[in-house]
Amino acid sequence: MSRGFFLTFEGLDGSGKTTQLRRLATALEVQGNSIVTLRQPGGTPLGDRIRSILLDSKSEATLGPIAPAAELALMFADRAQAIAQIIQPALTAGKIVLCDRYTDSSEAYQGGGRQLGSSRILAMHAAACDNLQPDLTLLLLPSLEASLRRARHRNHRHTNAHGTDENRFERESDEFYRRIYTAYEAIAAREPHRVVVLRDDASIEHIHQQILHIVATRLPQAIATP
Ligand code: TYD
Repeated sequence: MSRGFFLTFEGLDGSGKTTQLRRLATALEVQGNSIVTLRQPGGTPLGDRIRSILLDSKSEATLGPIAPAAELALMFADRAQAIAQIIQPALTAGKIVLCDRYTDSSEAYQGGGRQLGSSRILAMHAAACDNLQPDLTLLLLPSLEASLRRARHRNHRHTNAHGTDENRFERESDEFYRRIYTAYEAIAAREPHRVVVLRDDASIEHIHQQILHIVATRLPQAIATP
């Protein structure tokens, strides 16, 4: 059975990973590859419902405070559904899957940010995701200050343009984001082969070129010929 290639993008809100994912998807498609993209939370009908609960800053006005462990379990419910409905079938068909956030986000945000710790997240990953690991993770980690600036600017724009509000996480304190940053650093140090860190605060084009280079060196080894 052929196995595709599973690539995830990680980083703080405002790190530019969504832009880079789109540009990489386009470049790989132009090269003739079959690409599937998705984001977490979301990407499936169930996941989109979970996303609106988790990200809407008005959720807690109607639901009450969301317990960190409940937030974590919802992230994994979303992920398990995405694996079953999208990721695993695409990989089995030999496609390249580009996913905007995956379990590293849970380890960084819920494990680090919400202080639930890494071991709980890794245990849930084994239970809910059958330990499905990305072949490659691109972690965009420019300076914390730069990331925070971009996130605030972006969310301000998003709220203004669409009248919608997905700011539940972005309203958190700088301290919360510092813990996330530290957790991402720890993941990268623990799994240097899987996680490639891009620390550059360079232009979108420059980082795109770096990503193309990294992916070119990793893809051929992993994609099985049909
Ligand atoms: P999104 O608007 O997709 O943010 P971004 O464009 O920065 O990825 O919102 C996703 C938010 O959900 C983001 O703040 C990180 C958070 N999140 C977690 O806390 N845990 C998780 O496991 C995932 C996947 C996301």
